[in-house]
Amino acid sequence: MSKIHAAITAVNGYVPDYILTNQELETMVDTNDEWITSRTGIKERRILKGEGLGVTDMAVPAVEGLLKKRGIGAEEIDLIIFCTTTPDMPFPASANILADKIGAKNAWGYDLQAACSGFMFGLSTGAQFIESGKHQKVLVVGGDKMSSIINYEDRVTCIIFGDGCGAVLLEPNTEGYGVIDSILKSDGAGKIYLHQKAGGSVRPASHETVDNNEHFVYQEGQAVFKFAVTNMADVAAEIMEKNNLTSQDVAWLVPHQANKRIIDATANRMGLEADKVMINIEKYGNTTNGTIPLCLWEWESKLKKGDNLILAAFGGGFTWGSVYLKWAY
Ligand code: UT7
Repeated sequence: MSKIHAAITAVNGYVPDYILTNQELETMVDTNDEWITSRTGIKERRILKGEGLGVTDMAVPAVEGLLKKRGIGAEEIDLIIFCTTTPDMPFPASANILADKIGAKNAWGYDLQAACSGFMFGLSTGAQFIESGKHQKVLVVGGDKMSSIINYEDRVTCIIFGDGCGAVLLEPNTEGYGVIDSILKSDGAGKIYLHQKAGGSVRPASHETVDNNEHFVYQEGQAVFKFAVTNMADVAAEIMEKNNLTSQDVAWLVPHQANKRIIDATANRMGLEADKVMINIEKYGNTTNGTIPLCLWEWESKLKKGDNLILAAFGGGFTWGSVYLKWAY
């Protein structure tokens, strides 16, 4: 029997309507469009406005659209892996909340926390359930409502992040399409450079933590940049080498959208021209777990069966890695 691979058989995404432009940010903090554009490549990002809305409210339209595209019902899903750093609430898992909202009555699920590498970790983990024969339909969702943990008085972080959510469906394929390989890494020593100080068991929420702005993203940008730019490029090159792929063999780089300069360095290291790189950071900023599935969603019509895709990400933790997959449709 030929080997079972986990193929992506449908993809969809959702971004909220509200557009937060660099010009609007200029009225909120001491920054300017020129600085943001030249340092990050970002022009605007989407924000989920409205009381009582969380990341699953973006996942619902993304997943419902996906199911419609694939022509299946929610009750056919076996497993939901919800990759997010901003779950609706600490517990229960957003995977459970999503399953309830869409009517995935036969699914079990869990949340996966690996900051900006989460979707890639989730894709690789979800693929194992397909490859082992345990499941037939695994939904991997990647999304974040970053605006819920951003301090809009901190110019170092508020210019970068945005809200959005994407999802893919994994199904078995015996013709050689799907996830072929992955290299996943982490280094907890990187915690000091990028984290959220309070809200966990070490520093539960209190008046003091709120007064100290400790529920927002804390990032030492330059330090993270140095690690990101080397490690993301290295791991993308490593997976190419491991699978004997040259730059000619790679149809697309699907990079995490943290900073255009990091993406360019990764593409450069892989020997790829700009026209083989998915970049939408100018429109959405860094949506954390949403970046890679949102790229796949936006580029879906350009993808061809058999295309070799290299996914690469770097994020808080530190976490990083790459996935090599053959597009299946
Ligand atoms: O996705 C998760 C992983 N995260 C990342 O990969 C992020 C990696 N880091 C970065 O993308 C970049 O470090 C940033 C975009 C966050 C910052 O860019 P940078 O080129 O590293 O800038 P910097 O922090 O070195 O700051 C340079 C200058 C400083 O001023 P002085 O000290 O040179 O006078 C900052 O105070 O730019 C200043 N600055 C700003 N100026 C205008 C910092 N933020 C802003 C701002 N507008 N928003």
